[in-house]
Amino acid sequence: MESKGMNNHIKVGMLGIGNVGRGTYQALEMNHDRILETTGFDIEITRILNRHPDKDRGIDIPKEKYTADVNDIFNDPEISIVVELIGGIEPATEYMAEAIRHGKSVVTANKAALAVNGKYLAELAQEHHVLLRFEAAVAGGIPILTSLTTALLSNSFTDVQGILNGTTNYILTQMSEYGKDYAEVLKDAQAKGFAEADPTADVEGFDAANKLSILISLVFGLGVAPDKIPTQGITAIGSEDIAYAKESGYNIKLIASARERNGKMNCSVSPVMMPLSHPLASVSNEFNAVFVTGNAVDSLMFYGRGAGPLPTGSAVLGDIIGIARKQGKDSAYDLVPQLRYDSGLEYSEESTSKFYVRMTVTEKPGVLGKITTIFGNAGISVEAIQQKPPYDKNGERLATLIFILFEVERMQLMNALDEVLKLDVTKSIDNVIKVEE
Ligand SMILES: NC(=O)c1ccc[n+]([C@@H]2O[C@H](COP(=O)([O-])OP(=O)(O)OC[C@H]3O[C@@H](n4cnc5c(N)ncnc54)[C@H](OP(=O)(O)O)[C@@H]3O)[C@@H](O)[C@H]2O)c1
Repeated sequence: MESKGMNNHIKVGMLGIGNVGRGTYQALEMNHDRILETTGFDIEITRILNRHPDKDRGIDIPKEKYTADVNDIFNDPEISIVVELIGGIEPATEYMAEAIRHGKSVVTANKAALAVNGKYLAELAQEHHVLLRFEAAVAGGIPILTSLTTALLSNSFTDVQGILNGTTNYILTQMSEYGKDYAEVLKDAQAKGFAEADPTADVEGFDAANKLSILISLVFGLGVAPDKIPTQGITAIGSEDIAYAKESGYNIKLIASARERNGKMNCSVSPVMMPLSHPLASVSNEFNAVFVTGNAVDSLMFYGRGAGPLPTGSAVLGDIIGIARKQGKDSAYDLVPQLRYDSGLEYSEESTSKFYVRMTVTEKPGVLGKITTIFGNAGISVEAIQQKPPYDKNGERLATLIFILFEVERMQLMNALDEVLKLDVTKSIDNVIKVEE
């Protein structure tokens, strides 16, 4: 299939040959002929940056494709697309920038680099009339970014909620289904390769915040750096919280959320008690999902694998094909998906929610009264209270109290909890979890 004026042999340079690099190479091997047949593009990964060429990569790739010098890729005039799959912020950002300066379009799966340097890279790509695509950076194999910015472009979105991190969803699912505690499940997840040796970025919610920052830019046209997103991870979730959620018809999920109300956008990454009737509550194990509400399409959920070599490779290849379709056309650069930072929408740190609060107190008469008085004085209404059977610890009689609080501003709640903590009967505030209606 030849068409006039179009170079159908698309030569790609790839930086990195780890999990996603291998998955991308393998997905192309599996589907090269089908892609050629349906699009007319003969896509070939011709050069691969491999800093350890002798390392066994578990995949059969001709040695001559490897180079340890990234300049071999930048300076190859036949390569029109560079795929960045090394991860981390640097040198990944500088490599992407250099590829763009050499007139090459860039595909990346790197949410960490994009969340921090997306604006810089997007502007550089526009300046050089090349394309920057990053479908794999949010929710791996799920084509959420392309869908939001093509088929769903006619909508104004009010809500985006996502389970964007497979590791934490796996841990929470295992805790809930098998009654295991956090540390035990984390160890098991590490042994099975579902969690990194250093799980901080996942379990503290930083990875989800990077992805949410990208989604906010696409959906709401605002630049909110990941470290400005209120972020709470899952490390404080205990078996008591899981048990309460189960008894009360919830599943605890790590939810990345951005909402627009009356011209203001607020966002967070935090554990949320999701009612079992909510589609996100039934997303289990390593799966990801994104639930969006648009003013025309209404509610919509995207579900699938948010990680893994082949699913992520599928998204990377989709971007390569997307760029191939645009190359050689007059409109040199892309409008979708486009990172935007100038919508004029106001960013607000205020957000109200129902909350679940678990605390440990000395078991004696009058304790509940003291705590509810503090809540009352702070204008916080209590929907329900549960007291667990008392127990002895270090010669003291202690009890676990659980409060469900009606809609309250998070800062207002935190200030009230500071007061509760000052009471001589309060041992600890053990967890604060949002409750979804
Ligand atoms: N894994 C997933 O399922 C997944 C899903 C979505 C997005 N992502 C994103 O995709 C990117 C790649 O992830 P991955 O899981 O494939 O990582 P990975 O398995 O650690 O692979 C990274 C590759 O990059 C190479 N590399 C690292 N730093 C380099 C440098 N300075 N110069 C040259 N090569 C370098 C590594 O080389 P050596 O092997 O020689 O050390 C390795 O080949 C990351 O941005 C990640 O966030 C991953």
